[in-house]
Amino acid sequence: MEHLSSLTDWSPDVLNEVLTLAATLKADPEAYADAAARKVLFMIFEKPSLRTRVSFETGIVRMGGHAINYDVTTSPLGAGKESLPDTIKVVSRYADLIVARLFKHADLTEMIANTGVPVINGLTDYSHPCQIMADLLTIREHKGDLKGKTLCFLGDGFNNVTHSLLHGCAMMGMNIRVGCPKGEEYEPLPDVLAQAKALAAVHGTEVVVTDFAFGAADGADVVYTDSWMSYHIDPKDLDARVAKFMPFQVTNSIMNTAAPGAIFMNCLPAARGYEQTAEVIDGPQSVVFDQAENRMHAQNAVMLRLLSKSRT
Ligand code: CP
Ligand code: NVA
Repeated sequence: MEHLSSLTDWSPDVLNEVLTLAATLKADPEAYADAAARKVLFMIFEKPSLRTRVSFETGIVRMGGHAINYDVTTSPLGAGKESLPDTIKVVSRYADLIVARLFKHADLTEMIANTGVPVINGLTDYSHPCQIMADLLTIREHKGDLKGKTLCFLGDGFNNVTHSLLHGCAMMGMNIRVGCPKGEEYEPLPDVLAQAKALAAVHGTEVVVTDFAFGAADGADVVYTDSWMSYHIDPKDLDARVAKFMPFQVTNSIMNTAAPGAIFMNCLPAARGYEQTAEVIDGPQSVVFDQAENRMHAQNAVMLRLLSKSRT
């Protein structure tokens, strides 16, 4: 049985296969109208969500299945009456797949240790693999073959999306440059960087962390940013974080430093005037709503892959 905890659960070949399936599903959804017939997806969210919540439910329904959104706040788990392992052991007797959005990645690992069905990471503080599946699909659509392309991420380096971008770009033979403030609370985790560098060595591509935003953006094919105030960040930290991250805001000057025709990406939700200016996110280079749509197509491919492996 397979799970999707982080992109590195898969080999680059499997990642490519799933991306190709996602493109096929997107091109001909009718051909997959019964691909998950009568399959039940159990969804559990400890944090807010628009895209993940809605794209998983619409996605499984469009393939003939059904989704249950489980409210943690009214559950025995949320009330401290039932353990996470017991909850997952029970759910595994009913559902065919589980998607979980959690604070602690260790809780996802505990779910995987106790489940009888595949578990998908719908975001933890450590990684967000479903987002990056959608992003790689989007980059392929706009820029063609991923190999040799350069992605520049600006902003919060110590971040789930940044970590999964490091994994995904390195696996797909892309160069990745992260522009972020210096300091362990702003830079990617050292073990993620080491994994990315090892994966990139196979392709001879670069993995760079720098505090020079314009250097990171220079000639990039993709400029990507994410919230400076992720769901788990204390709102009291807003002013201090804005001061730290403002030099990494994506502006028209940054986009003009990137390659001609570069695309702008943000996993959303976005805050105009913070991680990017309104003119960038609402401008002609922005592909943020293609990214949002592709969450559904990419996740449908992920679900079909995991269902096909769930009895092995
Ligand atoms: N990008 C993303 O995961 O969005 P949600 O938080 O709305 O699910
Ligand atoms: N880094 C962000 C991603 C939101 C989709 C967060 O964790 O809130």
